[in-house]
Amino acid sequence: MERTLCIIKPDAVKKKVQGSIIQMILDAGFKILGMKMLHLSKKQAQKFYEVHKERPFYNDLVDFMTSGPVVTIALEKDNAVTDYRYLIGATDPAEAKEGTVRKMFANSKQENAVHGSDSVENGKIEVGFFFAESEL
Ligand code: CMP
Repeated sequence: MERTLCIIKPDAVKKKVQGSIIQMILDAGFKILGMKMLHLSKKQAQKFYEVHKERPFYNDLVDFMTSGPVVTIALEKDNAVTDYRYLIGATDPAEAKEGTVRKMFANSKQENAVHGSDSVENGKIEVGFFFAESEL
């Protein structure tokens, strides 16, 4: 079984579509191991997106991710990382396929409704960023 981390981002929470997104995740066969609604601190967002710190969009991304509450969800499934990335669609909603979460709910490349882990290794690390093993 693989793990992957979903973050329902502030744009989607503001639009009140978190329930619809969670239902899509469940309908796709994922098990929810843990779920938290929280308002990220600047430090948490900076640390979570540290791999992007040299990118021109880093500061804006941190500001956006701290602009309102998010929902973090630890997910488990066979092939979770690939299957979840397929479910959410391309980073840029303009390139996302019909029926994907980002096609349905994202505003832009930055305000793209959800985060997903990009590898099996990062899936484990990112779930651990928000959840202690004893909570799952
Ligand atoms: P996410 O899956 O959370 O991983 C990194 C995030 O950076 C990504 O989703 C987007 O929100 C953001 N991002 C990636 N590329 C760009 C870009 N070119 N411009 C603005 N934001 C971006």
